[in-house]
Amino acid sequence: MPAMHDRNQPKDDLNQVRIILLRVWDPIGIGDVPEAQDEYDSYVEDILAALSQAKATADMIAAHLLQIATDDMALPNSPALIERCTQAAKRLTGTRTGRMQSRISDRDPDSADDHDWIRRFIAANLPVLPVPNIPEIRLHKAGPQSGLRRLAKRDPQFGSPYWAHYWGGGLVLARYLLDRPESVVGRRVLDLGAGSGIVSIAAAKSGAAEVWAADVDPYAMVAIELNAAANNVSVQPILADLTKGEPPDVDVICVGDLFYEAALAKRVTAFLDRCLGQGIAVLIGDPWRAHLPTARLRLLAEYAVTDFGEDIGSMRRSGVFTLEHKSHR
Ligand SMILES: C[S@@+](CC[C@H](N)C(=O)[O-])C[C@H]1O[C@@H](n2cnc3c(N)ncnc32)[C@H](O)[C@@H]1O
Repeated sequence: MPAMHDRNQPKDDLNQVRIILLRVWDPIGIGDVPEAQDEYDSYVEDILAALSQAKATADMIAAHLLQIATDDMALPNSPALIERCTQAAKRLTGTRTGRMQSRISDRDPDSADDHDWIRRFIAANLPVLPVPNIPEIRLHKAGPQSGLRRLAKRDPQFGSPYWAHYWGGGLVLARYLLDRPESVVGRRVLDLGAGSGIVSIAAAKSGAAEVWAADVDPYAMVAIELNAAANNVSVQPILADLTKGEPPDVDVICVGDLFYEAALAKRVTAFLDRCLGQGIAVLIGDPWRAHLPTARLRLLAEYAVTDFGEDIGSMRRSGVFTLEHKSHR
């Protein structure tokens, strides 16, 4: 997120940001220590600049705060830290001054109006359907009539709507979690690259203590929220690229279909290795895509599923794996 320094920034804006960083964000816990009140001052202008950009959503600000905490302050990534960043970002975007507001386009996907618009769009145009072979889960699913192009026309930053489709990896991993609830019951689960949230929902239905659904696509956040509600489960969406940080404070990481690009697969595998090193279990669902690190995996189960882009009824063998420590090979 590029920072723009405005030398004429009113003091009120700076103070407002400063107070929220101290009282809400406060990742190192010094909010109540008067002598440490200037601890976050070096970040204030940078955050204010990020905040003043038209497209800076609360999720983007939260990701920025998380990056400062993990990269600059070297704090370990954890759901609690992510939650602090999320809450601070909400407060920061919620208290934009009139001057800032005037820079925000009426397409700002973070404004309550825009979030509601996307939510209404998905609710109206992507019907909630039972997932093939996973009747326990129902998801908002795109079809030919959904008009997803309208989202793309409205928002130049709209990316590929992975969240609107079924993927072989997510299907097989969700099926596995529902068939083997013991793999997540009572545990804190992170669903990395959550998309629609199918794996998160399966984990929650199988009795996971808490479930976080991380993705880099802001639209996935809305889809996850709607899909969790449609399935009466609680899932916490996180808009962030966690692969860049330290292992989060969870027991299990589930990865559905995230090995479809070489660079991404490499980064995800390195992150999962760091997580394994912290004693976090890793479960992967994948239809043997090109960049799946098969040499490091142990197959736990296999199912035939209809992958994205394949004809209905055409089945593709997909596996559920656990990632093993390097030394096991
Ligand atoms: C093929 S889809 C799979 C979605 C879901 N796991 C499933 O199986 O149905 C891959 C998802 O990973 C997300 N993604 C890509 N890179 C990511 C990253 N570095 N961190 C988190 N999510 C990422 C994409 O936005 C997309 O939603």
